[in-house]
Amino acid sequence: MATEIHPLTVELIPALAAHFGRHRNESGVNDIHFMPFLPDDPQGPRGASVDCAFLPLDKCGWQRWFCAQDMSTGNIVGHVDLKSDPLQSSMHWCQLGIGIEGAYRGQGLGERLMSRAIDFARHHEELEWIELRVFANNTPAVSLYQKLGFKTVGVLRDRFRLRGQSIDDIVMVLSIGKTV
Ligand SMILES: CC(C)(COP(=O)(O)OP(=O)(O)OC[C@H]1O[C@@H](n2cnc3c(N)ncnc32)[C@H](O)[C@@H]1OP(=O)(O)O)[C@@H](O)C(=O)NCCC(=O)NCCS
Repeated sequence: MATEIHPLTVELIPALAAHFGRHRNESGVNDIHFMPFLPDDPQGPRGASVDCAFLPLDKCGWQRWFCAQDMSTGNIVGHVDLKSDPLQSSMHWCQLGIGIEGAYRGQGLGERLMSRAIDFARHHEELEWIELRVFANNTPAVSLYQKLGFKTVGVLRDRFRLRGQSIDDIVMVLSIGKTV
């Protein structure tokens, strides 16, 4: 399946929202969760914010999204996002999220999307750290992050409980520091 990675544009927002809807419904299938929400939970996830996705990087709340598009259907089938910290004092950090629809996993797309986001951050000197959270039992994601150099800095035990399942949350960081 030929996929191309594009930065989010206004035109791609409906396709990204459709992808997000499909993707969130896959979390929790067979009790393998990768989001801290059940599929019908009105609390989230929130997806891309049109107000934030195009803010400059010196404005708190900025987001950047990269979309993997299946060129045979036009559908967005994967995404990676970077989000700024809400505090001005922490604008050298950003948080990363990623998700690929089931049929498109295991073909190198996760690594391509991650590399695109890391490259973006490396090319913006104001950014020095990328942080992410990952459920401890999400072996594919933990392996991907380790492969790309993320280090575990802590484990939040019993951080979520979904359908009675206790989930540990791993905190990982990648230094892209120009000063550290
Ligand atoms: C985690 C995820 C992004 C990986 O994307 P992917 O396209 O399937 O991964 P890739 O094919 O690019 O594989 C890259 C690396 O990831 C790791 N990986 C991928 N699938 C794996 C699996 N089933 N088991 C173990 N490691 C795996 C490996 O390190 C792999 O490198 P290798 O091929 O040299 O072994 C994808 O599985 C996904 O979207 N899962 C559901 C959503 C999710 O978990 N998001 C992250 C929440 S923190």
